[in-house]
Amino acid sequence: EQADALHRRVLEWYAREQRDLPWRRPDASPWGVLVSEVMLQQTPVVRVLPVWQEWLTRWPTPADLAAEAPGEAVRAWGRLGYPRRALRLHAAGTAIAERHGGRVPGTVAELRELPGVGEYTAAAVAAFAFGRRVAVVDTNVRRVEARLVTGVQHAAPSLTTAERQVAESLLPQSDSDAKVWNVAVMELGALVCTARAPRCSDCPVESSCAWVANGRPAYVGPARRG
Ligand code: ADE
Repeated sequence: EQADALHRRVLEWYAREQRDLPWRRPDASPWGVLVSEVMLQQTPVVRVLPVWQEWLTRWPTPADLAAEAPGEAVRAWGRLGYPRRALRLHAAGTAIAERHGGRVPGTVAELRELPGVGEYTAAAVAAFAFGRRVAVVDTNVRRVEARLVTGVQHAAPSLTTAERQVAESLLPQSDSDAKVWNVAVMELGALVCTARAPRCSDCPVESSCAWVANGRPAYVGPARRG
């Protein structure tokens, strides 16, 4: 059926085209995934890579980071920008060490309780590190789904309930497909369905895209940030 075909095309595209990023490898720890998601929120992948490697080498577990002075975390943040994120990770590492025996918790609810972990980060860690069937909705995913499903060029300024429902409804039923689906849609937004000059001819779901069917109309709506 239609949803299956959509899933299959995106998952096959991802299997072929995905970037090899260390936090996506099977041997990445939940802690490594958490650190990557906080770093990637406001910083591009190429700048995150060396700092993430350095952090994980120096502090392979949450307790290792918690044992350091917070200022060391800020120093090791380097030039990633928004250095308060280093303090948030330090606080999260401390809470994981104190409240969870040093192991990153695996449910959205527990993750959400950690200092500095918001809705997005909790969903990303639950999905990527623990294989939970939850929708992970970042800027890239919102743009892909706005085009594919709603037929508009860009998502609205802030995440709506309707968008969240679309994201949930698009999740494949099987846990193993759902796990890959989240990162596959994110990657499609990063590599093909880009904010400017999307490469629709390289898109595995161009033929099902509502925005393409509409003739790729320019965005009409409230002003966007960024
Ligand atoms: N892989 C997993 N999460 C990611 C993110 N936020 N940005 C880029 N690649 C990712």
